[in-house]
Amino acid sequence: MFAVHLMAFYCSKLKEDQIKKVDRFLYHMRLSDETLLDIMARFQAEMQKGLGKDTNPTASVKMLPTFVRAIPDGSENGEFLSLDFGGSKFRVLKVQVSEAGKRKVQMESQFYPTPNEIIRGNGSELFDYIADCLADFMKTRGLKHKKLPLGLTFSFPCRQTKLEEGILLSWTKKFKARGVQDTDVVSCLTKAIRKHKDIDVDILALVNDTVGTMMTCAYDDPYCEVGVIIGTGTNACYMEDMNNIDLVEGDEGRMCISTEWGAFGDDGALEDIRTEFDRELDLGSLNPGKQLFEKMISGLYLGELVRIILLKMAKAGLLFGGKKSSALHTKGKIETRHVAAMEKYKEGLANTREILTDLGLEPSEADCIAVQHVCTIVSFRSANLCATTLAAILTRLRENKKLVRLRTTVGVDGTLYKIHPQYPKRLHKVVRRLVPNCDVRFLLSESGSTKGAAMVTAVASRVQAQRKQIDHVLALFRLTPEQLKDVQGKMRTEFENGLRKDTHLTATVKMLPTYVCGMPDGTEKGKFLALDLGGTNFRVLLVKIRSGRRSVRMYNKIFAIPLEIMQGTGEELFDHIVQCIADFLDYMGLKGAQLPLGFTFSFPCRQTSIDKATLIEWTKGFKATDCEGEDMVDMLREAIKRRNEFDLDIVAVVNDTVGTMMTCGHEDPNCEIGLIAGTGSNMCYMEEMRNIELLEEDEGKMCINTEWGGFGDNGCLDDIRTQYDKEVDEGSLNPGKQRYEKMTSGMYLGEIVRQILIDLTKQGLLFRGQISERLRTRGIFETKFLSQIESDRLALLQVRRILQQLGLDSTCEDSIVVKEVCGAVSRRAAQLYGAGLAAIVEKRREDQGLEYLNITVGVDGTLYKLHPHFSRILQETVKELAPRCDVTLILSEDGSGKGAALITAVAKRLQQAQKEK
Ligand code: BG6
Ligand code: BG6
Ligand code: GLC
Ligand code: GLC
Repeated sequence: MFAVHLMAFYCSKLKEDQIKKVDRFLYHMRLSDETLLDIMARFQAEMQKGLGKDTNPTASVKMLPTFVRAIPDGSENGEFLSLDFGGSKFRVLKVQVSEAGKRKVQMESQFYPTPNEIIRGNGSELFDYIADCLADFMKTRGLKHKKLPLGLTFSFPCRQTKLEEGILLSWTKKFKARGVQDTDVVSCLTKAIRKHKDIDVDILALVNDTVGTMMTCAYDDPYCEVGVIIGTGTNACYMEDMNNIDLVEGDEGRMCISTEWGAFGDDGALEDIRTEFDRELDLGSLNPGKQLFEKMISGLYLGELVRIILLKMAKAGLLFGGKKSSALHTKGKIETRHVAAMEKYKEGLANTREILTDLGLEPSEADCIAVQHVCTIVSFRSANLCATTLAAILTRLRENKKLVRLRTTVGVDGTLYKIHPQYPKRLHKVVRRLVPNCDVRFLLSESGSTKGAAMVTAVASRVQAQRKQIDHVLALFRLTPEQLKDVQGKMRTEFENGLRKDTHLTATVKMLPTYVCGMPDGTEKGKFLALDLGGTNFRVLLVKIRSGRRSVRMYNKIFAIPLEIMQGTGEELFDHIVQCIADFLDYMGLKGAQLPLGFTFSFPCRQTSIDKATLIEWTKGFKATDCEGEDMVDMLREAIKRRNEFDLDIVAVVNDTVGTMMTCGHEDPNCEIGLIAGTGSNMCYMEEMRNIELLEEDEGKMCINTEWGGFGDNGCLDDIRTQYDKEVDEGSLNPGKQRYEKMTSGMYLGEIVRQILIDLTKQGLLFRGQISERLRTRGIFETKFLSQIESDRLALLQVRRILQQLGLDSTCEDSIVVKEVCGAVSRRAAQLYGAGLAAIVEKRREDQGLEYLNITVGVDGTLYKLHPHFSRILQETVKELAPRCDVTLILSEDGSGKGAALITAVAKRLQQAQKEK
């Protein structure tokens, strides 16, 4: 009895002594809770640094955006290939994610070796090898004939700007293939796969193993928002709020961040806790100075740390009677699996003896106890350190969500965590102690990270399919150079038809004589009133022209024309106009003054003289009754008479294109074309009298108002008109009319965009498939909004804000699509304008028999003025289609009112001369 007690006493004394001895030796490796909390705080600061745009470049913890934006929602399905590369084992898999909400995943996989000469050899050989394994897998599984999307789990730090890309920042763990760092791993692998002509694989997603793990676990537990790997290496990812991620545009929702916490301390932040053993291990590693936190924690290093410690202790005579074996001297001889075995609850001591004996040592009982305790300290420190960084992440999540208590799940994988008998328990316990206000469930990823990678790939493949649908729609708006040439040619034909006597009346491009026969010569002078009706604004102006110095002073006032007046009766419209004139005269203190008036009236009119203009038909947003077929000057005169307050001398009626050409012609005599890209679309130009068959004279020139907005009304543009153009036309005030205008001008571009957005939404590609009331509202996309949305200077967030102001509740992804749609529509418009303009300059060049034509175009209109790319694309197109014309576009700064006044001045002078005769 006594002997038994004595024995027990001896044993526990022996154990206690050994433990004390090791504790003393490894004093520095035992971390108090105070230290752990301190490290946790440091890591919180590191995460912040990694997330900041300015601080990220120097941050050691890189906090890499993964472009994985949501955990699985169960709707994922399909068949995928998957590669799992970078952990202790390389696997190729086929993953079948089940149909319709059945949440079933089937996997077939095969392991392939990763020989050192491959993973530390040449980069291209490494990728060839991976591609070979993939091809082999596909062959043996009979998958060669299938085109399958592939998700690549690549467990190294990669900088991503999209899901299907990853620039390797550095190799870690035991990998070090040459020439891969700083290159895109996805393209490298794609290139290698392409060499296999018999397989067709599309890499849709690259994910880190932590991300795969999180997604795997989240498939079963929707609370999972953290993924941790404690295996060969260590790392964690978690779902971060987008508005905290400076490096990625957008502020909506969350994105998974791969922290790459293994590099924590690489900037010296952990020097106070690193020991001489850590430093020695680091020096002997493949990447000295790098991944310092990982080297204190993960499976690749724990065994080696133990070996270094044992060797030191043996050297100090604290173990094995001071004897060392050559195996103990050899790097890598103790592995993590040995550490795990030595720490086994029951067999641990026996295992220790066996392992040490295998290392050529002759351990005593005391040695075994001591070595076992070394292992405990090393692995405990590992769990402690992991707990600190994990606790920091959990705290961040809780704070992001502004919660007092966080309930969450952490998905975990990695051999160290899986095979070490005490590790999980220890880790959980410390985490719970460090963050008592988090209820954490730890979920072991049973099926590795590929199931999660397949989820990501499934989402990516859905996105890709959607992308194809969107591209299909946008492609309808892309015109080839041939198509543009064709438009140019057809426009030219229509010009000729409009000018010829026999075809004039039926021509869709009306080519209306304006009775404006010359450009201003600088001698014009006087004080004029001008009206400017038909663009975005109705304006009344007073224009003072002084001769000689070509100086013009203008005073103007903008008046609104309410919709009910625009579309009421003609009398109401003209009464309203006269009312505005009265207000203006009053405002200018000109009551009773009898001034000559020039009337810019921006609608197609048949003129028989400069002051006679019969409205052919309304265009754009006007539809007042009893006006078509009437002389607009008469209607204005009658309205003035009805009011009986003042008299005005209406001298000239001009189209806005003509006013614009004149305005610009006042500065540049070479300006012989006027172009409007505004609410409506139109062009005028100076034509040789002899080409205008309607008029008798053959001498000189006259300005022709082409009214090209009606181009296409005979169906000649039907090959490029889309269903959206047709919808816009059908919903307009003048269905079937002004087809070219409806494809090009400000009043309609927004409508085309709206029709496309409605269609994309119906297809479930936008606005979560919900067509809102706002989207149903005609006219919400005014030209100014289109122009703002397309501005390059605008960040995505601002685009989204504009859309939200328009009442469109869009996500960032939606905003990208809306911007693309706007771009496609406005680009086509600018190109069509270019084709029209090319047609006229080429005609002018040929008519004059010139090799080269030098000509200036005066331009006005909100589309041209506000849109960020319109003018550039227009000019590029003209250059392309009319290479022998040097076309200079100048912007009319003063509107067409000035031009109208100049025309009035000339007409007045002629009137006077006529009278004097
Ligand atoms: C596996 C995952 O289960 O664990 C891998 O499928 C991951 O993606 C690995 O890299 C990590 O553990 P280890 O121990 O293999 O590095
Ligand atoms: C103005 C002219 O500057 O531009 C108007 O003065 C013209 O005469 C108008 O109609 C065209 O642009 P928008 O965009 O206002 O239709
Ligand atoms: C290394 C890699 C990291 C990976 C981890 C676990 O730390 O850099 O990307 O997640 O190992 O495999
Ligand atoms: C419409 C009108 C036209 C005008 C153009 C620009 O096309 O019919 O006369 O020039 O809009 O405002």
